[in-house]
Amino acid sequence: MSDQSNGFKRVVIEKPFGRDLATARKLNSALEKGFSEEQIYRIDHYLGKEMLQNIMVIRFANTMFEPLWSNKYIDHVQITSSETIGVENRGGYYDQAGAIRDMMQNHMLQLLMLTAMEAPHSLDTDSIRDEKVKVLRALSLPSDGLKSVVRGQYGQGIIDKTLVSGYRSEPRVRPNSNTETFVAMKVLIENRRWSGVPFYLRTGKRLEKRGTQIVIQFLDLPSIAYYNQYSGLDPNRLVIEIQPREGVRLKFNGKKPGSKDIILPVEMDFCQNCDIGSVSPDAYERLLFDVMEGDSTLFTRWDELEYAWRIIDKITRGWEGQPTAFPNYEAGTWGPWESDLLINKDGRKWINL
Ligand code: BG6
Repeated sequence: MSDQSNGFKRVVIEKPFGRDLATARKLNSALEKGFSEEQIYRIDHYLGKEMLQNIMVIRFANTMFEPLWSNKYIDHVQITSSETIGVENRGGYYDQAGAIRDMMQNHMLQLLMLTAMEAPHSLDTDSIRDEKVKVLRALSLPSDGLKSVVRGQYGQGIIDKTLVSGYRSEPRVRPNSNTETFVAMKVLIENRRWSGVPFYLRTGKRLEKRGTQIVIQFLDLPSIAYYNQYSGLDPNRLVIEIQPREGVRLKFNGKKPGSKDIILPVEMDFCQNCDIGSVSPDAYERLLFDVMEGDSTLFTRWDELEYAWRIIDKITRGWEGQPTAFPNYEAGTWGPWESDLLINKDGRKWINL
């Protein structure tokens, strides 16, 4: 089947690609019997989103960001993908998957890889994917292991002024389900660039607001005795907005106009889909076009999946048999309080959308 003499043959696979490393390997070996790696297009629709493709451009096509993009200047990174919808009519699938397999193993790790990767030596498919995989290979949980991972499940609550039911009452969900609809975790990337910089990731359903963003928070200024006014200032922050607003915001400090030296946080704001008429193509449109063109840059290579499953397996295995106190967050909030604790105990806080 891998013979292409009578035209091209390509297979496109939508997730879930397995439910752990073992089942993903099995699926992959079955595929490899009929197709070569170049013919396999594993979809992660987040890679088709305009702003994900923009992350590399923002980082590598600008002189001003890349020199600051490391532990020398960055305090931490946080990536949020929040949804207000519940599981809708997909309860049967979702109850077997949960947020960690449905969002974290794929979309969230893609966002992390693009944010943290080194500059590829060229922009060809494999050079980019090689650099992305290196991020996953260096990824680890902090030494307290599963204490750095918080899971949650929504109970009933109010979204858009409407009372919505809890996860366990959704169609085709087990009434005593222990499936998580929220995950927050702190991870580390053990390499020269990122050593010491925590990456906080969180995703969940039935949260207060829908949106996906990456927040790069820069280090505080050193405190110097003669610069009293310059201490305790808001940190500089770069926010890459993936959706629904697509843009970049840069927060810095400026002087309040007037005779007093008052310092205020101000913002530079770029939005690429705010003007009426500027509509980004749908992620799937872009991806299916690329399949026809034979360009697999925006698809997941097998080794990316393999390393992604390795880290997710560590978490799901650790959870097995552990009691949960579900439901542990109300629909319409930002998830369980342990998620705040996870970041607050490091002296930091979530930047909500
Ligand atoms: C899918 C998940 O991959 O991504 C869904 O299976 C989730 O549960 C969806 O709702 C989110 O995608 P988007 O593009 O709406 O952020």
